[in-house]
Amino acid sequence: MQFNKQKRLKHLLTIDGLTKEHILEILNRAEGFFTPQGEIVQTDHLHGKTVANLFFEPSTRTRSTFELAAKKLSASVLNLDISHSSTSKGESLRDTVRNLQAMQCHIFVIRHSASGAAHFVTQQVKPGTVIINAGDGCHAHPTQALLDMFTLRKHRSEFHKLTIAIVGDILHSRVARSQIHALHILGAHEIRVIAPKTLLPKCVEQLGVNVFHDLKKGLQGVDVIMMLRLQTERMQSGLLPQGDAYYRLYGLTCDMLSNANPDALIIHPGPINRGIEIQSEIADSPNALILDQVTNGIAVRMSVMSLLMENAQK
Ligand code: CP
Repeated sequence: MQFNKQKRLKHLLTIDGLTKEHILEILNRAEGFFTPQGEIVQTDHLHGKTVANLFFEPSTRTRSTFELAAKKLSASVLNLDISHSSTSKGESLRDTVRNLQAMQCHIFVIRHSASGAAHFVTQQVKPGTVIINAGDGCHAHPTQALLDMFTLRKHRSEFHKLTIAIVGDILHSRVARSQIHALHILGAHEIRVIAPKTLLPKCVEQLGVNVFHDLKKGLQGVDVIMMLRLQTERMQSGLLPQGDAYYRLYGLTCDMLSNANPDALIIHPGPINRGIEIQSEIADSPNALILDQVTNGIAVRMSVMSLLMENAQK
């Protein structure tokens, strides 16, 4: 669905099904958008094109970096303010998209609470229009996983040597699902998930991960720690230990971090909740790449949008 006949990406809906070559093409192209001094360049790859940002769920990082990325590529950007849009008058997603298409938008970036929303939108638009999933329900957040891989590769390029732990609310995390797929495709040595049973999907082992319920044990020998926030807005009651027990058992504190390999890297997609899943000192430490991830997100999203628009024109 997200490929054309030549197996090139025409949309980006999920990491699942991509090849290593697809991922490396995106990461390598993203590298080319940085100057040697680490500034992101201005280009005209999308001159004359319009990018529509449709965020039906809140966002700080993804929405802003897609907007910045589109502007760096010289596109026009339309940020639909969903709370003041005709969605509140009952207009369907299908009709909203068809109206924006009539306004001659070329790329749709969509975040929605419903898994499969971006896939649905691909069926509503004209051929040659690009759809990018910016997070759909608990399903996928492909550009987040790509920017995470980009960030890790800058520091630890040999994925086959890496043991990686994903810690926290895996059950509700579209980021974790996309990260697991990307890490497998890039050949990571071992992927662990660490969480209470209530915050893990059923049959999570089928994703090719090793499961731990004890953070201390799970962190032993780990090179990279991918932290996740608790998505309380998607939770039913009874999934979490009471009071501050979650932080005591699963919070990444300085004491807990000492179980991982020395110089273990820490990433987090944000937003971070200090004192809930991560100790403030760790979030601000040199081994935490959390703000690098945000900067890299601009270049990776430039890469995805420019590549997909080129593929659409072939
Ligand atoms: N990582 C991420 O998706 O953050 P936002 O919700 O702020 O976009």
